[in-house]
Amino acid sequence: MTGNDSTFLRLASWAEGALPDLDAVLKELGHGDSRCFGTTFGRGECTLEVFLRQCRDAEDPARIAAEFVPQTSYWIVNEANRVVGIVRVRHRLNERLLRSGGHIGYYVRASERGKGYGKQTLRLALQELRRLGVRRALLTVHSSNTISARLVVANGGLLENQTTDPVSGEALDRYWIDLKKALLRHLYISFAD
Ligand SMILES: CC(C)(COP(=O)(O)OP(=O)(O)OC[C@H]1O[C@@H](n2cnc3c(N)ncnc32)[C@H](O)[C@@H]1OP(=O)(O)O)[C@@H](O)C(=O)NCCC(=O)NCCS
Repeated sequence: MTGNDSTFLRLASWAEGALPDLDAVLKELGHGDSRCFGTTFGRGECTLEVFLRQCRDAEDPARIAAEFVPQTSYWIVNEANRVVGIVRVRHRLNERLLRSGGHIGYYVRASERGKGYGKQTLRLALQELRRLGVRRALLTVHSSNTISARLVVANGGLLENQTTDPVSGEALDRYWIDLKKALLRHLYISFAD
């Protein structure tokens, strides 16, 4: 375990509401980019209250459009109970996510990067996915996003192949993480430390 890995971090469900700095983080993410989607609130399309309701609805198969899969949004919360980023966990894959998008998308605000939050966030998000009954997680990472690739590999990601982002045309690497092995690996590293 590195010093960074021991930093306290937790994932808070959208149901905990607007924790401190959530609005600032979502506004910074704004419209998003090819690496991470923005949000309706961050784009200025609705209030935070409406956005939170949308997060609730996005989990419910009865409330989502046929082309979407259920998704849970979490806030990445630091030891001071401040939101430093967001992570989205898709409960299953469809054809589109299988090609590009995968199970998990994460974003750490620029001022909080390089502190180990990204790596820990992915580990916690993988635990949530496992809790949902998923056995193998797909992570798709733009080939130019070497920082994200490092944290995927650090969490047990094995590169399957490279494809092309259908929107931006950029090269996209597809990694799979065996969730049983990821859990055992974490327990082993914690024990060894
Ligand atoms: C990708 C992202 C989540 C990483 O978050 P983070 O909190 O900075 O990540 P960590 O601090 O856990 O660092 C992960 C690794 O990258 C390295 N790293 C972090 N910032 C770095 C930098 N500026 N330059 C070089 N390496 C860096 C860390 O040293 C660490 O590697 P190590 O474990 O081998 O030391 C963050 O950069 C981000 O939100 N980017 C925009 C959205 C995005 O790309 N999402 C991923 C879509 S696939």
